[in-house]
Amino acid sequence: MKRILTVGDARRLAERRLPKIFFDYIDGGSFSETTLRANETDFDRYALEQRVLVDVTDRSLETTYLGRAHARPFALGPVGFTGLFHRRGEIAAARAAQATDIPFCLSNFAIATLEDVRVASRGTLYAQLYILRDRSLMEAMVAAAERCRVEALILTVDTAVTGVRERDERNGFRSLTGVTPGLALQFVARPRWFAGVLAGGLPQVGIVRDRSDFGRGALQQAAKLSQQIEQGLTWADLAWLRRRWRGRLVVKGILSADDARRARDVGADAVLVSNHGGRQLDGAPSTVSVLPEIVAAVGGEIDVLFDGGLRRGTQIVKALALGAHGVFLGRSYVYGLAAEGEDGVRRVLDLLSTEVSVTLALMGLRSIAELREGGRALLRERFRLP
Ligand SMILES: Cc1cc2nc3c(=O)[nH]c(=O)nc-3n(C[C@H](O)[C@H](O)[C@H](O)COP(=O)(O)O)c2cc1C
Repeated sequence: MKRILTVGDARRLAERRLPKIFFDYIDGGSFSETTLRANETDFDRYALEQRVLVDVTDRSLETTYLGRAHARPFALGPVGFTGLFHRRGEIAAARAAQATDIPFCLSNFAIATLEDVRVASRGTLYAQLYILRDRSLMEAMVAAAERCRVEALILTVDTAVTGVRERDERNGFRSLTGVTPGLALQFVARPRWFAGVLAGGLPQVGIVRDRSDFGRGALQQAAKLSQQIEQGLTWADLAWLRRRWRGRLVVKGILSADDARRARDVGADAVLVSNHGGRQLDGAPSTVSVLPEIVAAVGGEIDVLFDGGLRRGTQIVKALALGAHGVFLGRSYVYGLAAEGEDGVRRVLDLLSTEVSVTLALMGLRSIAELREGGRALLRERFRLP
């Protein structure tokens, strides 16, 4: 595990362990990947305020978001098909989250079901939903969320159509419905992955496991499910879900103050500032660049959560200083998962915790509460983007 000192190390190891088609699916973004890159590099616009001669012996990363205190300011965000990247990947990630006392969010397009995760972990569970044309699938997910004591539903709204991810197009990720000879070669070249993931039989997508009309096997099911995402999704659907679901509701994929206000008006408990990790609208602003205006618009009334480009503790600290109540990890934890399973996720969570803690201390801060109180005054803008 010493090999993983940074998220970058986990990423390199994941690339060695995974068949190319899956590594590219995780790592890539849409079109020119401009937004994907900007999510990370726009953090560099801010410098951190260093303060010295403060007693920082006792430090805490405890943070409250979505109505509950957690040991860290970050949660594991929804990532589809993680059970294809490591054997029982969702379960491994949920266990690592529970051990760290942070929430785990199951994707709508996961290999495991909510029930599978609930049996394996007593931790805080969130569930992500897409609005699907086949409403019975959605209804089943909401009902499962109720049964499985899910604390928040996260409705993803930035996928009216799926972004064009050229790496996936080249690899045939979306059009594959079975294992071609080329794919079989990629699989056998990764024996450790092969033995783990395929040992349990052909992986299936959890929500359509029992639906023969979605075909057999995760690849076929993934292709069919992508076509199921509702292009006609509107604010009325959000209002419907608000009436249907009594627990906390988060709207994921908000990039403007106006949309954040509308989500608040419909009764959302939180918005998640996200551009889907640069996988949808290429050319959309980076999430860190729009966070301040969204915090100014609704941050006093509902939680403002954040994701995109978080690979370092310093970036997490910047997002919190800009007013995020909590942040979600995407690729960072999935690289750890693909590299070393549950241990790999724990390793990534530990190293990010250390990075956040050391950064706070060198800024003369003892807690996330102090960081959020200090807010923007703790950052200097290095330069203004036009
Ligand atoms: C491989 C992959 C699959 C994803 N699947 C989903 C999904 O099923 N539902 C969803 O709402 N977001 C999904 N996302 C987006 C993440 O929840 C999150 O917004 C994004 O990864 C954050 O950016 P980051 O990876 O740079 O941290 C996915 C992201 C990746 C990388």
